[in-house]
Amino acid sequence: MKNAIKLLVAAAFVAGSAAAFADGAALYKTACFACHDAGVAGAPKFADKALWAPRIATGTDAMVKVVLTGKGAMPPNGGTQMTEAQLREVVEYMANAAK
Ligand code: HEC
Repeated sequence: MKNAIKLLVAAAFVAGSAAAFADGAALYKTACFACHDAGVAGAPKFADKALWAPRIATGTDAMVKVVLTGKGAMPPNGGTQMTEAQLREVVEYMANAAK
């Protein structure tokens, strides 16, 4: 009986992590892709290692701050209503795709 409960807890944990990962990808596709997929208006292109390396080097916090305040052609919050936590998930998703 105790083992069955442990298995359930483990399964719930794995499902939770997968959902968090899928969130970043799903949120990216709601808005950020519009500029970042093709590299519109000077946006660092999705999964382009050379363009992302210097940004990734500044750290996730710094990148999230840039998105929150906006920069160049990117409006504050990337033009979305996303919370800071959601923006962080997307930034992590984008950074991981370019590593
Ligand atoms: C209207 C086009 C546009 C949209 C929409 C957009 N971006 Fe950007 N993004 C840019 C541009 C342009 C830059 C480059 C800014 C610069 O360096 O001058 C950029 C840069 C970035 C960077 C690098 C920041 C840094 O540290 O230099 C991140 C991370 C980023 N965007 C994430 C996002 C996320 C997340 C979203 C969706 C919530 C998003 N962007 C939506 C245009 C856009």
